[in-house]
Amino acid sequence: MSRASAVAPSNIAFVKYWGTRDLDATLPFDPSISMTLSECLSYCTVETLEGSGPDRVDIASESGALQPAGEGFAAGVRGHLDRIRGWSGSEARFRVAARNTFPTGAGMASSASGFTALALATSAALGRAVEGGELSELARISGSGSAARSAFGGYVEWPVDEEGSAAVLAPETHWALSDVVAVVDDRPKDVSSREGHRRAPTSPYFEPRRALLAGRLRRVREAISARDFGSLAEVLEEEAIDLHVIAMTSRPPIFYWSPATLAVLEKVRDLRSGGVPAASTIDAGPNVHVVCPSDVEEEVARAIGSMDGVVSVLRDRVGGPPRITGEHLF
Ligand code: PMV
Repeated sequence: MSRASAVAPSNIAFVKYWGTRDLDATLPFDPSISMTLSECLSYCTVETLEGSGPDRVDIASESGALQPAGEGFAAGVRGHLDRIRGWSGSEARFRVAARNTFPTGAGMASSASGFTALALATSAALGRAVEGGELSELARISGSGSAARSAFGGYVEWPVDEEGSAAVLAPETHWALSDVVAVVDDRPKDVSSREGHRRAPTSPYFEPRRALLAGRLRRVREAISARDFGSLAEVLEEEAIDLHVIAMTSRPPIFYWSPATLAVLEKVRDLRSGGVPAASTIDAGPNVHVVCPSDVEEEVARAIGSMDGVVSVLRDRVGGPPRITGEHLF
């Protein structure tokens, strides 16, 4: 038996991945750019099991107690273990335990960190710990495209070539940005992002946004390179709103926002008019990620946290890549 544990970060996209040109290979129509986070993390411990039988999948609570994972979650993990078996040529069965430090399934990219941690821990348990581009690919074939970006720390673009590789635009030490998440609803969303990607091309606004993407990608690369928050802020909000315009006009439509989502968007625009550098972005869920320079994080968190409809505030900042850890869940 061989056991390994890994911890992997979530990430928040500045330019969004929305729409897959190849759903099975998880390849997007267009590139996306994200910031890797340091506090929204997934821990995963994997041990090879003797003999045959199904993989065993547990979830660890905050206290560390393990319980069998729900059917949906366990099926997702087993599906990815099958792909990793295919990649490695191994027929091993596994015992897996997983823990997230943040709410799952509510537009917080728990699949990105979760599948990256699973890919790293499983490859290590098989004696072939992967990193960088290889980890990115092994995480991405889980079906979560954003997982491709969680294989790296700092500011990351994916894909940068036809094969679907991701690459670091700048390391985490380059620019101290924070992500203050206004949690307005921490329940799992009704429509998965996979389904959102599938429906996206049915929106009449899908192609018009694609036409704008080359310019937005260039503006974000330049803003990161020059640490220009004003330019980043503009693109961030354009992208967040366009993703949801496309979702709301897909056939059938998907409404991820709640009334409090809009209230937070307005509040952030007010903050900015008042001279506080802060900008909103939103993934496939109702929660608003308020990105800001880390020196105003405290002020932003206080302003957002006092709003009606904001259930809690998570404070995160740019972080490093996934890693093997000695912190085992069993
Ligand atoms: O990785 P997926 O399939 O869960 O898709 C993520 C989609 C968004 O979070 C909405 C955007 C992004 O680029 O992360």
